[in-house]
Order: sequence, then C-alpha cells, then structure tokens
Amino acid sequence: MADFGELGEKLAGIRNEIAEELIKIKDSKSVYEYRKSVMDGKTGKVGSLMREMGKIPAEMKAEYGKRVNEMKNWVQERFEEIDARLKAEEMRRRYESEKIDVTMPSKKREHGNLHPNTLVRNQIVDIFGSMGFDIYEGTEIETDYYNFTALNTPQDHPARDMQDTFYLSPEFLLRTQTSAGQIHVMEAKQPPIKIISPGKVFRSDDDATHSPMFTQMEGLVVDKGITLCDLKGMLDVFVQKIFGENTKTRLRPSYFPFTEPSVEVDVSCFQCGGCGCRLCKGTGWIEVLGAGVVNKKVLEGCGIDSDVYSGFAFGIGIERIAMLKYGINNIKLLFGSDLRVLSQLDD
Ligand code: PHE
Repeated sequence: MADFGELGEKLAGIRNEIAEELIKIKDSKSVYEYRKSVMDGKTGKVGSLMREMGKIPAEMKAEYGKRVNEMKNWVQERFEEIDARLKAEEMRRRYESEKIDVTMPSKKREHGNLHPNTLVRNQIVDIFGSMGFDIYEGTEIETDYYNFTALNTPQDHPARDMQDTFYLSPEFLLRTQTSAGQIHVMEAKQPPIKIISPGKVFRSDDDATHSPMFTQMEGLVVDKGITLCDLKGMLDVFVQKIFGENTKTRLRPSYFPFTEPSVEVDVSCFQCGGCGCRLCKGTGWIEVLGAGVVNKKVLEGCGIDSDVYSGFAFGIGIERIAMLKYGINNIKLLFGSDLRVLSQLDD
C-alpha cells in the first residue's frame, strides 16, 4: 500500500459498491445475508480489511486502522438503517394481511340433529324404561305364523285384509306389525313380562299419512291380575309425558284379533286443549294408538296359563306421534332428505 490516496480510493470503491447493492435489496433476510458476506473476517470486502494490516508500513498502521474502522462503522450504520426500514415495512404488511375485522358477521356453523323419528322413539323408550320395561327387538322378516296365525289371525281371517302384506314366500313375509314380537317373548319366558319392542314394519299402503315402511313401538305386560285399568293408568302417564301434563286419554271400542276387549286410544287435543281445531278436526280428540287386553287364545298358544295370568298390549305408530308433535302433514317428509325440512325439526 503506497499511500493513503490509494487506500482512500479503494475504500470509496467499496462504499459505492455496498451503497449500490443495498439499493437493490428488498427484504430483511437479504440484508442479513449480504451483511454476513461483507463482514466475513476472511472473505468479506470490509471484514478482511483488518487482515491486511500486516502489509501496511508501521508508520501508517494507526491511520489505516482508523480509516478502516470509520469505514466499518459507516457500513454498520447503513445496514442497520436499511434493516430497520425493511423490517418495519415487513411488519406493516404482515399486520395488514393478518388483520381481523371483528365487525364481520360470523360464519354459520351447520350442525346435524337427530331425526324426529329417533327423537320420538328415544323419548318413548325413556318413558317406558323408567317404568321398568325391557326392550325386545324382533326381526323385520317374519313367518306368517308369528305375524298372523299365533296372533289369533289364521289364514283367510278377514282381519288380514287390514294389513296389506308383502309376502316373500307363502311362509315368509315382511312383518306388518311389531305384535309378532309378543309371541316370541311369551314363548321364551313365563310372566311376569314387561317389554316394549320398537321396529320397522311394512304394509302395501301409500298416501299422505301412510308409507309402505313405518315404525311401531309394541308394548306388552303379562302378570297376575292385569286388567284394562292398568293399561289406562299407564297410558295416562305416557301421554302426559309425551304431549303435556294436561293431556287426557279416552278409550273407544275397537277390534284386533289378538286382544279382547280391544280399544283405540285417543288423547285430548294438545293444541286446542279439547275445544276443537284443525289438528283434531274439530273433535277435541286425536287417535294415537291401538291396544287391548291380551286374548286368552294368544296366551294359551304361547303356553301361558290364562286362568292365572292376564295381560295388556298396545301398538304405537312412531311417525304418527312425530307428525303430531312436529306439525308435519305428510309422512313422506319424514323419509325424505330435504335439509330445509329436517333442520326445522330439532328439539
Ligand atoms: N298391531 C296393531 C296394529 O298394527 C296395534 C296393536 C298392538 C293393537 C297391540 C293391540 C295391541 O294395528
């Protein structure tokens, strides 16, 4: 190094180069990397200047050191300045992109709900469960014997016409009523018997209030001294829990081959309280289920002594209860998948 003029030029050259390079840099990460390469003690343009001290004549060393230090300070300041500016800019952009508008309306979360049939079935199961009933689940395919004959409805009995049947073969059919389960239970067990039996049943029937497939809940109680009064008392509790505390029941004579006497059970209209409205067709009463005292012939056929034991049975249509409770006028709406309908039926 001949004199300071030459050193001055060299340092000025480095300064210009760095200044030009810094103009091109657009982000703080590049500033960091460029700074590392410039300041590197071995290879960096600025970092390596001190290593050249050895080549500097002794009398010039002090001045050389001073100038190199000034240079270093200048470079550090530039880097810090530009680093601070870019970081501030980056932070501002980040805040901008992550900003949350708390005044925006929130997204509505869709959630599923239980089907009205399931809600009603669960509620009925809970009510009878709390009265000590067990659950018996039968099969959807039955024999003609269990679905009809054992229920005192032999071949060619006119009552078979009430339930238009899907036969799979002369022997097998899709059960038309959960009453078929009564026979299985009574064959398998001596009284006391106290069961409910929910399940799908099938009839060739199709209009606004009938569907070829629907759901029933059978009830059966057999024990010593069971009478129609027990049925009425139990049904009173049941309908009050389902339709409200002020609901009353009314029994009308009816006919089922497997019960004697047989009744149709009405409840006082829970919408108008009995004065008459569209729901009860002006009568103040709504029919909800069929029931009766178990026919002695049925008990005997299952090997139960009808002089010792007696019982009552009832059959509830789940869809009918769901339609009444939720104000649905077409049974098809319960079996469709229209979410506009189903989402309104949340309890
Ligand atoms: N099984 C009858 C029906 O489907 C209802 C019923 C059940 C009637 C039990 C009396 C006793 O219509």
